[in-house]
Amino acid sequence: MRKSIDELVDVDIEGTVAREIFVDDELFEQELEHIFGRAWLFVGHIGLVPNPNDYFQSRMGTDPVILTRDKAGGIHVLLNTCTHRGMKLCRSDQGNTRTFTCPYHGWSFSTDGRLVSRPGGLYGVPGYEKNYHSELDKEKWGLIPVPRVETYKGTVWASWDIEAPSLLDYLGDMRLYLDYALDYRDGRPDGAEVIGGVQKWRVKANWKMIPENFIGDLYHDVSHRSVDSVGIGPSGKGRRDKFGNRVTLCFPQHGHGVIGQLPFYEEYEGVSGTWGDDAETREYHERIHHSRVERFGDRMRVSMSVGTIFPSMSFHGRQPRTIAWVHPLSATETEMWRIFLVDRDAPDSVKDQARRYYMRYSGPGGLTESDDMENWSYATRASTGWRSRQLQFNYQMGLGHARPVPELAHAVENGEYNEENARAFYRRWAQFMNADSWKEIPMPVGIGNRASTHREVRQ
Ligand code: FES
Ligand code: FE
Repeated sequence: MRKSIDELVDVDIEGTVAREIFVDDELFEQELEHIFGRAWLFVGHIGLVPNPNDYFQSRMGTDPVILTRDKAGGIHVLLNTCTHRGMKLCRSDQGNTRTFTCPYHGWSFSTDGRLVSRPGGLYGVPGYEKNYHSELDKEKWGLIPVPRVETYKGTVWASWDIEAPSLLDYLGDMRLYLDYALDYRDGRPDGAEVIGGVQKWRVKANWKMIPENFIGDLYHDVSHRSVDSVGIGPSGKGRRDKFGNRVTLCFPQHGHGVIGQLPFYEEYEGVSGTWGDDAETREYHERIHHSRVERFGDRMRVSMSVGTIFPSMSFHGRQPRTIAWVHPLSATETEMWRIFLVDRDAPDSVKDQARRYYMRYSGPGGLTESDDMENWSYATRASTGWRSRQLQFNYQMGLGHARPVPELAHAVENGEYNEENARAFYRRWAQFMNADSWKEIPMPVGIGNRASTHREVRQ
């Protein structure tokens, strides 16, 4: 008999998660509805659709969607399937168009999703007068819009569930760390630009292993030993376990978490030579450091390096500033996408250093990401067998040792090596999987307004 979700995820007593949730097809189907059908999902960055009628093809779970900017500038997320007979309407990764014309029978849709009307023309609905006798209700047969879409400092998020809380409530205090990544230079929403396109690749791994890794797995230092030993990792300082002061911090009630360093910032240490050694680059990074201390210093607990927003979006807060998000394809295969952000008004030398660094470090050809991909894919493959899938993964490290964070009511932190953030992620996963609607998913009281609500929640 199938185990219950609470038996599969026992992070609080036993500190275990059943391997079944990483390989089982039925549970995967349930995830599509309960998690990808309800949670706020990152779908792209406005830098990917800067002009009227720009579009970018994205995904929500296994559904293809199109992120568009309509001709008046409005942002939409539309299901990428023709309402006539299901043809995948847009098949280019991104571009600019006044209408999406279906290659099957020619129905045409504007960038805000309306089925357009051009009587007698080739586009619109071919044969509208003659064959449909002008009776087709075009209002009703537009593209299916994702009902909840919100943008936050250039990031675009969508949810299929009209009952979902606001994006800000969903983010909770994790918003501070998203700000840390998005407000890198001066907090302007248009301050960052996407450079180098979107990297996309497939991993034969369960999707959860990826955000789980980014939410707090410092323990896998050994995986990157080869990159670190030659000083070409992100710090350029050699072994990661010698970096010092690293800590993980999470928001257990939301399922989000970060890896960072304590205290928030000490003296400016300079950036690694891997970012470039010229005076212009050094001066630029130092200036940014001081501006960030000024803007975030009294609000931040740790200087963040990487983190995850449940369920599927991860990002780096410092250089490298990247957003990586995952699209599940099946229980055992996932597509990963990554974009790279750089300050729009950064000197060209800084942009060029960033571009080179991103290529060297991230993505399927990147020195570090390829280490991680091996771990995720072999761990998935070695858990699919009849015997191995009956076992559990061990998440016991630091169980019972999390400490509350005085500055952040909803946060806990643990030492450098622990699995608190992963436990929070799977606890949240179980809450979504058990719930039949958003009403049954616990949300902290009084979120979205830090100043007035923290004390109330802590008591
Ligand atoms: Fe698109 Fe027929 S499937 S017009
Ligand atoms: Fe890694």
